Amino acid sequence: MQIKSVRPSKELSYREEKHNELTLEDFARLFGTTIDDIPYDCLELIAEYDFRYKKLSHDEQDAIILRVLKKIHSDELAIAGPDRKPVWEKGWSENLQDFINSGFDLGPLIPKFVKRNEVVRLNGSYIRPANPEFETCFVRVLRTYLFRKYFSNAAAVYEFGCGTGLNLVELGRLFPEKKLYGLDWSKASCDIISKIAQTKQLNMTGVLFDMCEPDYHLELGADDAVFTIGALEQLGTRFEPFLEFLLEKNPSVCINIETIYELYDQSSLFGYVAAKYLERRGYLKGYLARLRQLEKEGKIELLAVRKTFGCSFHDGYSYIVWKPVN
Ligand SMILES: C[S@@+](CC[C@H](N)C(=O)[O-])C[C@H]1O[C@@H](n2cnc3c(N)ncnc32)[C@H](O)[C@@H]1O
Repeated sequence: MQIKSVRPSKELSYREEKHNELTLEDFARLFGTTIDDIPYDCLELIAEYDFRYKKLSHDEQDAIILRVLKKIHSDELAIAGPDRKPVWEKGWSENLQDFINSGFDLGPLIPKFVKRNEVVRLNGSYIRPANPEFETCFVRVLRTYLFRKYFSNAAAVYEFGCGTGLNLVELGRLFPEKKLYGLDWSKASCDIISKIAQTKQLNMTGVLFDMCEPDYHLELGADDAVFTIGALEQLGTRFEPFLEFLLEKNPSVCINIETIYELYDQSSLFGYVAAKYLERRGYLKGYLARLRQLEKEGKIELLAVRKTFGCSFHDGYSYIVWKPVN
């Protein structure tokens, strides 16, 4: 008799292994709130998505840290800053072309930097999610929570550094009556926003805008709200002109979902490698310290500061919620 060796599929072997799962309580803890405070549509997303994960063994964690350190010391990493503008322009032009070629399917608008099947950072350790789309699913939950909690009363919402506009699409689904603006220094990004507005009947407008040289002609009403996701990251330490612009325009609330240098505990290896990665890439540094100083001066109020999760390299989805004080 011939004996066939059958290897279980990855999916099957994952199911057989012991795994943890992000529960409602975990999300409430990550957002610094109670389950009662989590909006209904957010609860639905948490129930719908697969948030199972496996903790990494000691050797697996070592392998990840080694990978991060090798990246930090390699020549492969692009440094954020004004020199990168043509690269963003080219990247978003490709997404725009793919969006048109697909007959306006939103799939090609998922940025290429959103990785599938990645080990991620959560709660002070590296985890391996069961769901290859963990990052996209988690970000949907996070966005829905923050948008519902802080933007319900906003008249209009402005996303600065909006890229392919998918965050605004989500916002438009939650609040179809609100006027949405996608601002970016890339023309292709603004063209994507216009094409989404035309083809998906969403109330959104693309506006060319450089956060390093803010255009004060842009009108923001006292009831309007502002957010950024992974966009201040690109400014490094050059965030002051944009911060001054926001203080002058006085929106009702600002949400920044970003990598936050000051939140890395550099007395631990886990925090230290992420902080070194951020420094090497020239990402956002000093922003939270500056907001804390402005709060002491009575110019702003900090409403929330939370760490959530990130890719293997750093916590790209920490958030700060704040508002200018008149
Ligand atoms: C990492 S992407 C994030 C895009 C989008 N927020 C998202 O969540 O997918 C960073 C974005 O910031 C934009 N950006 C970088 N520097 C900028 C600047 N000085 N002014 C305006 N936009 C900028 C880039 O063009 C890009 O769209």
